[in-house]
Amino acid sequence: MQVEKSRDRRTMKCLVVLQICAAVVTMLLISTFYLTMYPSNKGKKHTPSTNIVPSNPIQKDNIAILYAIDPIGHSFCFRDGQYGEEITDWTVFNRCSDLDFNSYYAGNFTVGIEGGRVGTIIDLGSRGDLEKKYKYQETVGHGQGYASIHRTNKTLLILDNYQSHTFQAMDESAALFQDASSSTTVAAKLDHVYALRITDRYDGKFERIVKMLVIAYHPNESVTIRWEVLP
Ligand SMILES: *[C@@H]1O[C@H](CO)[C@@H](O)[C@H](O)[C@H]1NC(C)=O
Ligand SMILES: *[C@@H]1O[C@H](CO)[C@@H](O)[C@H](O)[C@H]1NC(C)=O
Ligand SMILES: *[C@@H]1O[C@H](CO)[C@@H](O)[C@H](O)[C@H]1NC(C)=O
Repeated sequence: MQVEKSRDRRTMKCLVVLQICAAVVTMLLISTFYLTMYPSNKGKKHTPSTNIVPSNPIQKDNIAILYAIDPIGHSFCFRDGQYGEEITDWTVFNRCSDLDFNSYYAGNFTVGIEGGRVGTIIDLGSRGDLEKKYKYQETVGHGQGYASIHRTNKTLLILDNYQSHTFQAMDESAALFQDASSSTTVAAKLDHVYALRITDRYDGKFERIVKMLVIAYHPNESVTIRWEVLP
């Protein structure tokens, strides 16, 4: 009896030890897996790279809200569709500010505001203005005019005939593609369509052209834009 009991106990002990070993090995395997599959992000730092060619941004749902009072959200970067500033080390830094709302000039958009950047921003008018001026056929929701704006070389184009899918040159082309020498500012207005072009005094190859439509506007607070980079 005694002998058997102690043998049982030894077997039990062995089993427990084995189980613990198995558990430890499993944990080690799992942690190794996670360490190799998901390396730590700690060492990585955001490297501002303002000279990267704009990757073709997603053409759908490019809607952004800019906030006048927000330290980060008052400016916008069309290269990556993110806000223009960042807070690092308890400090606000400029990251990539293509467009400013309200900070340079109250109630206005301003472009050409960082480093060697210069820019032009043009108020093309409201959707109704454009429809009247260029005499194209609109659709329910009046989005056709905005949707059609694009460019070839140094000409901005807008819808001409919807059925034949033809486009006409916009009068503002020359103004948009003239050489800018400073920043430009323009009043933010609800329902207005804007075209902007940013170039760089020191980098002749840099050019960013964007169209945008103000879809909501609360003066002194926020503005919501639909935007698209024009290749
Ligand atoms: C754009 O410019 C290029 C080079 O100058 C020219 O070959 C092409 O025909 C132009 N395209 C249009 C639509 O004018
Ligand atoms: C905003 O832009 C308009 C032109 O659209 C200009 O007349 C006005 O002076 C600008 N506002 C400020 C505060 O500079
Ligand atoms: C926006 O702020 C300016 C300056 O603080 C003020 O003069 C103006 O009345 C404000 N506008 C609105 C619409 O609240």
